[in-house]
Amino acid sequence: MEKETILKLKEDLIKDLENVTNSHDLEEISIKYLSKKSTLSQAMQSFRTLSREEKVEYGKLINEVRTFIESKISEVSKKVKEKELIDKLESDKIDITAPSSLISTGAKNPFYLVSDEIVDIFVSMGFKVVEGPEVESDHYNFELLNIPKNHPARDMQDTFYINSNLLLRTHTSPAQAHELEKNPNKPLMIICPGKTYRRDDDDMTHSHQFAQVEGLVVGKGITLANLKATLELFVKKMFGEKREIRLRSSYFPFTEPSVEVDVSCAECNGKGCQVCKGTGYIEILGAGMVHPNVLKMANYDPEIYSGFAFGVGIERVAMLRYDINDIRKIYTNDIRFLNQFKKRG
Ligand code: DAH
Repeated sequence: MEKETILKLKEDLIKDLENVTNSHDLEEISIKYLSKKSTLSQAMQSFRTLSREEKVEYGKLINEVRTFIESKISEVSKKVKEKELIDKLESDKIDITAPSSLISTGAKNPFYLVSDEIVDIFVSMGFKVVEGPEVESDHYNFELLNIPKNHPARDMQDTFYINSNLLLRTHTSPAQAHELEKNPNKPLMIICPGKTYRRDDDDMTHSHQFAQVEGLVVGKGITLANLKATLELFVKKMFGEKREIRLRSSYFPFTEPSVEVDVSCAECNGKGCQVCKGTGYIEILGAGMVHPNVLKMANYDPEIYSGFAFGVGIERVAMLRYDINDIRKIYTNDIRFLNQFKKRG
């Protein structure tokens, strides 16, 4: 190739570079002058056929031209990039004095408002929060809670079975058995919030999936008076200072004695109205003194240790607390429903 042709590349390049305004153009120029198909590369290919002296001279020239091209392109590239950055900053500029567009935020579901509040109340009393598996064995869900096979109490807690031994837990009470087992012969003060499942028909107040908070206190000299004081404090913090509780005798296989805890009706202050169906009280949770069999099965000596337990339905508390008449509203996430809880979140 003629030396002039190679030298002319410099002039051509300078002319071409004059018209470059963006990195895309520059990229094309770079391809034109430096790619395998460029004149310079072709010149390199004819190199092999030259004599030794010619090679030296020719090589020098090619190198010089290549360095020239590279440095010119990089020089222009710097300028182009700088200009592009300035243009971008200019076009991205935000006018912070412009009026904002309305951003709509969601609201916390009342389920979580209540669940967080329940947990906070018990944590403030010194309870530790634990979690348990939702897929549970028959052993933990029933047997260790003093509900042997064929016990009639199982009827009310039919659930979804994975196989004949594994099931979706019907209550958070198995957390009691797990925690007792993990801390043999130690005092305990735990709550376990979580999902529970039952083969319940969906209606206004029932759902096949719901949630509970389990509570368990075990120690030396724990009595029903401790249970009452703890739950009274919980109810007053949750529903207001004016609320009173009432313990009604009940039955659960894992507690003895067992009680149903009612809260005085906020609507009529205990006098009796439509809301409380004339009784003045509304049932909110089940509780009792831990059955000696439950303690024994966990290797606690019931002569030394005693305890109380309770289980409270989160949706039930939410429904009472916020006057929600249909449990399904809690799950469907209708924005019109949720927005009513905006200020509380
Ligand atoms: N596990 C019971 C249920 O789901 C609720 C319950 C009642 C839990 C009494 C307790 C308790 O710990 O002592 O119906």
